[in-house]
Amino acid sequence: MPSPLRTGLLAAARSKRLERMASRLPLTRKVVDRFVAGETEQQALATSRDILDSGRFITIDHLGEDTTNSSQATATVSAYLSLLSALAPLAGRDTAAGGPRPVEVSLKLSALGQFVAADGDRIALENAHKICTAAEEAGVWVTVDAEDHTTTDSTLSIVRELRGDFPQLGTVLQAYLTRTEADCADLSGPGSRIRLCKGAYAEPASVAHQGDAVDEAYVRCLRVLMNGRGYPMVATHDPAMVEAGLRLAAEAGRGTDEYELQMLYGIRDTEQLRLVGQQRQLRVYLPYGTEWYGYFMRRLAEKPANLALFLRALTSQ
Ligand code: FDA
Repeated sequence: MPSPLRTGLLAAARSKRLERMASRLPLTRKVVDRFVAGETEQQALATSRDILDSGRFITIDHLGEDTTNSSQATATVSAYLSLLSALAPLAGRDTAAGGPRPVEVSLKLSALGQFVAADGDRIALENAHKICTAAEEAGVWVTVDAEDHTTTDSTLSIVRELRGDFPQLGTVLQAYLTRTEADCADLSGPGSRIRLCKGAYAEPASVAHQGDAVDEAYVRCLRVLMNGRGYPMVATHDPAMVEAGLRLAAEAGRGTDEYELQMLYGIRDTEQLRLVGQQRQLRVYLPYGTEWYGYFMRRLAEKPANLALFLRALTSQ
């Protein structure tokens, strides 16, 4: 997508005023549904069952981010605890001992209190710890999402601390950040689960590769992860990156259960099923909840076709 348009959409993704306006548009719901599994836990569970039945794995995200309010962070924890108790019966199925877990949840530390004044890191750590404890009991994996670059140091230090108690905790690294190749090397030890994505925020050239350099960095990071001793999670819809992931995994002598591919709900569904048909492990990132605005705007910024879908819905009302 042309850079000024992408930058504008990503700036709009953080506007509370536009969020309020978008939520009031009746047409928005229809388009949002393409990327979001519904507003309720029940809807997320129904979609999860369908995805698991198709042979894919899932990671569920309770939508929300950037809270500065500790009671809102507590409400997010409650939503995850309720979700995890409902997921326990789904999580056990098809799980080989020690193998990949088919059911995972994804967390954003900014939804768990990371931005609460004074004590945000401690609050986010304690909240994430509660969710990880419940996930462990339910047989569900947890991965911590990556947000904008100002949060990376805090997020990785909270993840390191949580890994003391939950060694299988995953984390997301963004290939567009110039620091990420070194983070990949640092975090590719035994048992470490790293989800590598390109990165979805508007980041300055002082910290992030721009344009084609992002793809080149993605492949370099993938090589580090595939040659490491952790469990790489190749999160991309880009055919060239998927191809690079499969090639580098084969070159590193990895079996098909020693890494996985990941795509977002509603994107390249046919391709997801084709890859599963080739016996590839593929996990779908499934967001649900009422706070879909920021997530949805980042999807619009990624691809002109996503924006066109939205504009078509606008004009067909
Ligand atoms: P990119 O958007 O560069 O597209 C490259 C090519 O892929 C396109 O030219 C096209 O061929 C194909 N393609 C892409 N979208 C398509 C579509 N809708 N339909 C058909 N083809 C399409 N980001 C972040 O900052 N923090 C995070 O925690 C996460 N988490 C995360 C989890 C998972 C599972 C995924 C898949 C992604 C994320 N992301 C993320 C988002 C990520 O950073 C990135 O913004 C998007 O995945 C888009 O980048 P791609 O690698 O898909 O390629």
